Amino acid sequence: MSQKTRFVALLAAGALAVSMSACSGAPGGATAADCNVGITMPTRSLERWINDGEQLQAKLKEATCTVDLQYADDKVDQQISQIQNQIAGGAKILVIASIDGTALGPVLEEAAKQKIKVIAYDRLINKSPNVDYYATFDNYKVGTLQGTFLKEQLKLDSATTPINFEAFAGSPDDNNAKFFFSGAWDVLLPYVTKGTLVVPSGKAPKSNDEWTTIGIPGWKSDKSQAEMDNRLSSNYAGGKKVQAVLSPNDSLAIGIEASLKSAGYKVGTDWPMITGQDGDKANVKAILAGEQAMTVWKDTRKLGDRVFQMIQQISKGEKVEVNDEKTYNNGVKVVPSFLLEPEVVTKDLVQSKLIDSGFLKASDVGL
Ligand code: GAL
Repeated sequence: MSQKTRFVALLAAGALAVSMSACSGAPGGATAADCNVGITMPTRSLERWINDGEQLQAKLKEATCTVDLQYADDKVDQQISQIQNQIAGGAKILVIASIDGTALGPVLEEAAKQKIKVIAYDRLINKSPNVDYYATFDNYKVGTLQGTFLKEQLKLDSATTPINFEAFAGSPDDNNAKFFFSGAWDVLLPYVTKGTLVVPSGKAPKSNDEWTTIGIPGWKSDKSQAEMDNRLSSNYAGGKKVQAVLSPNDSLAIGIEASLKSAGYKVGTDWPMITGQDGDKANVKAILAGEQAMTVWKDTRKLGDRVFQMIQQISKGEKVEVNDEKTYNNGVKVVPSFLLEPEVVTKDLVQSKLIDSGFLKASDVGL
């Protein structure tokens, strides 16, 4: 049975399901049918998406909404068929953390025909008019925080000797990755240009638009480890040491740190300054061990709260609150967005920001 006929058959079945679920009441006059939400997350292999999905699902269930939560193993086709199933299953609102933000045009056309509202979650969906809202963190600021951290900690303005530096960027199919890179590179490129930061591998994009030349597909730790192994073995002979690394997130940083360990680098001796993002448990442990200098923390509970609010406002037919109606043009339209604040977490801030706030348990990070 072709994907199309299977989808039409599912649609018929779904229509029946909708009429069945309309009776149970959701808060504020919205019916359960109105608050029928399909959530798709990119993968379970990266810690944050598990938290993001389960947090939002729990809030919606508590509000007696109908919820379907799916993870797509970083496979675009799998995510598309999950969304098709949710459309057929009667979803009225879709929350999508896309794998490839440019691949969802056709399935979102189907959603639009059903007057289904679409919220892009954390990552923008591109090249489609059928995205209603976007909720995320200030992605450009994530990069600015990483770049500024290195600039200040390395004292780049007063540096008298060149510093060996390597840069990485995120997955080429992730719209966020270019914002992360641009935020960091707008701070760091001037120092590369004037030779304060030297890039022995030569992998230093001349402009933000070239970010994919150093992008690591799928944000995979094993790929960043292999790339760092290659850079160290090809460009760091004769005692030359890397002194700083721009890693756009924690999953890439953990791979880079593994590569440095196997190359014999030692914390307290010649270990470089490494950035990160997300506040993953393994990386918070690395920060406490001196193997990572910082992570940009994004309290995903706040993102869940914001998306929950958007869903409630949509379900009740109210105006949806946004705070940015200019930054995120997806190639077809500027998508009304709500941006949340990212924060820098260093060793001395782990307790107050991550543990005391309940984001992580002390036992998660060996405290
Ligand atoms: C980005 C996300 C980051 C990081 C990365 C890898 O889109 O904003 O927080 O998790 O994906 O999953």
